[in-house]
Amino acid sequence: MPDDPAPDRRVPVFDPSVALQLWPGDARELLRLLPDSSVDLVCTDPPYNLARYSTGNIDPGWRAPFNNDVADWDAEAFDPAAWLPEIRRVLKPTGNLFAFTSYNMLGRWHDAYDPAFDTFQIVVWHKTNPPPKLRRAGFLNSCELIVAAWDRGHAWNFSRQREMHNFIEAPICMGAERVKDPRHPTQKPVAVLRRLLEWGSRPGDLVLDPFMGVGSTGAAAMAMGRRFVGIEIDPAYAAAATRRLATSPLEAR
Ligand SMILES: C[S@@+](CC[C@H](N)C(=O)[O-])C[C@H]1O[C@@H](n2cnc3c(N)ncnc32)[C@H](O)[C@@H]1O
Repeated sequence: MPDDPAPDRRVPVFDPSVALQLWPGDARELLRLLPDSSVDLVCTDPPYNLARYSTGNIDPGWRAPFNNDVADWDAEAFDPAAWLPEIRRVLKPTGNLFAFTSYNMLGRWHDAYDPAFDTFQIVVWHKTNPPPKLRRAGFLNSCELIVAAWDRGHAWNFSRQREMHNFIEAPICMGAERVKDPRHPTQKPVAVLRRLLEWGSRPGDLVLDPFMGVGSTGAAAMAMGRRFVGIEIDPAYAAAATRRLATSPLEAR
């Protein structure tokens, strides 16, 4: 037997000169492949821990059921604090973080990330076409929260006051933009991700999404001339992201 066995081909190797790197697997293991201070922007959409609030899918009978369940991956307890050391390690001192979250998690994000960054704010995404509520017994889920955190020295790309509103208005993913095979219940619209990347990154910057789903952050990054590393634990979603980005890397979809 040779002393130096062949390397395990399933372990990816980070190459900063490669614009698009999609890694199927667990971000808890794969993040360590990224060097210290290598990432300009972490733009991600981790689990929300909402599954336990779900009342299940609603079947009105006259149309396909309204998808009220998030997904199996959302049942596992996601702890933002546990991810902080790796996010801080890979992020450049001038880098920043955008992370989609939900109302039940905002305090936990703030408790862990506010002390670790100079500034912690939120962005609100208002969905112009939220899923309907059949009974008029509460608000629609028409707003989604995005944590923003950065240090002094981070350069924003704002040129006018009106670009500095922490508010994005855009519809949820529909029609041709929706990945069908498999459908991801929380696929984010590229229009929203493009806005985040416009604000917080520059052409050539490295954008990381350790919870990439079907690769929406990657689609925005490719369309905008950023480099992208995406990680996804579910093999079917990871394969869908690879197909989506390999076949039309310059299209925003
Ligand atoms: C909210 S979804 C992201 C959806 C994505 N923004 C999109 O547009 O497709 C979160 C994703 O994180 C993945 N995930 C959960 N835990 C993970 C882990 N430890 N490593 C990598 N991916 C993980 C889930 O499988 C799920 O697809």
